[in-house]
Amino acid sequence: MFLTREEEKILNGEKGEAARLAIKTIIKVGEALGANRLVEIKHAHVSGISYLNIGDPGLEFIEHLSNLGAKIRVFGTINPLAFDLDSPKEFNISEEEYRKQLRIINALKKMGFYPTFTCTPYYIRKPGLGEHLAWGESSAVAYANIVYGARTNKEGGPIALLAAIIGRTYYSGLHLIENRIPRIYFKTLFKVSNTVEAGLLGYYIGKMSKGKTSYLENTIQWRESWIKAFAAAIGTTSDNPLTIIGNISPETKLYNKDYIEERITITKEELKEAYYELVDRNVNENIVFFGCPHLGLEELRELALSIDRYYDKPIILSTSRYVYAKALEEGIIRKLGEKGVKIIKDTCPIVSRIFQADVVVKTNSVKASFYLKRLRKVKILLDN
Ligand code: F3S
Repeated sequence: MFLTREEEKILNGEKGEAARLAIKTIIKVGEALGANRLVEIKHAHVSGISYLNIGDPGLEFIEHLSNLGAKIRVFGTINPLAFDLDSPKEFNISEEEYRKQLRIINALKKMGFYPTFTCTPYYIRKPGLGEHLAWGESSAVAYANIVYGARTNKEGGPIALLAAIIGRTYYSGLHLIENRIPRIYFKTLFKVSNTVEAGLLGYYIGKMSKGKTSYLENTIQWRESWIKAFAAAIGTTSDNPLTIIGNISPETKLYNKDYIEERITITKEELKEAYYELVDRNVNENIVFFGCPHLGLEELRELALSIDRYYDKPIILSTSRYVYAKALEEGIIRKLGEKGVKIIKDTCPIVSRIFQADVVVKTNSVKASFYLKRLRKVKILLDN
């Protein structure tokens, strides 16, 4: 692999042992994926920081780098953890799990990561068109590629962390323009009209695009929550989260019919099949959940106005502490609190234990449905 002088210095250990280990690993991964050089990144986002998901091996890996004196070279943000830092006792964790989670956070903070604890880092720092990133949260990776035209592969948390330490990642996959050119063309025989439909569409397109970049014909304006739902869902079924959406994505010029290998028309029937893969039948919800991905300010504003329709069930919303602070200032948190809504931040039901097994959750998120069922053994009703 071609290395710049600066990269050679890092590899020779001149920038410290942590950076040497980081670049060595990134080069190895890059070579395995056919990269012939590295590329500088502007922002790294590390997923997989919940102690419940990564356990002792994850904790040891992160602390090891921190103990070696690792410092990140770029803007760095981190994903949700196993509880809300302001109310850990509500999350069914032991004293030991609590302490180990704090050790993970402290090690990441020591390296220079901002304590963002969210899967929506794009609200904190908006990526630019064509900017290279190393992000490790699949929903955010898809959103950055689709909405901003930023370039990031769907990284594992450790690779995003190592990339942050050297400020670079391997130059392959979606960092290359040729891999951003759509090969599969999708067209729907209906107009997307709500969050669940957008999520199901992302889930279906992820499956059908078989790892290739796709193009979705679209002439209408989507609400922000629909795009988030689409992006989160495509991340559950595909390793290539880039679908260039007409009228939304900044890279629609990359669509060229000469490069299209397959054309697929989607009907509502196909979405129905996806829907039945995700839900449990003949169940009634015990709880309503919105906020996968974490809710933005606009979504919280809308929910504060419309949430009354779920008045007879407990409602949980999840967001970031960044958005929460803004919503608090605007009086939205107070309004939702008066309606009995519980808002959790820093975490989410998938990376925490807030839901017990067998509870029936009604959610509008395809991604939450997919993972809650598998990881938390809850039952699912998918509805707007
Ligand atoms: Fe975010 Fe948790 Fe969903 S990290 S995308 S709310 S699974």
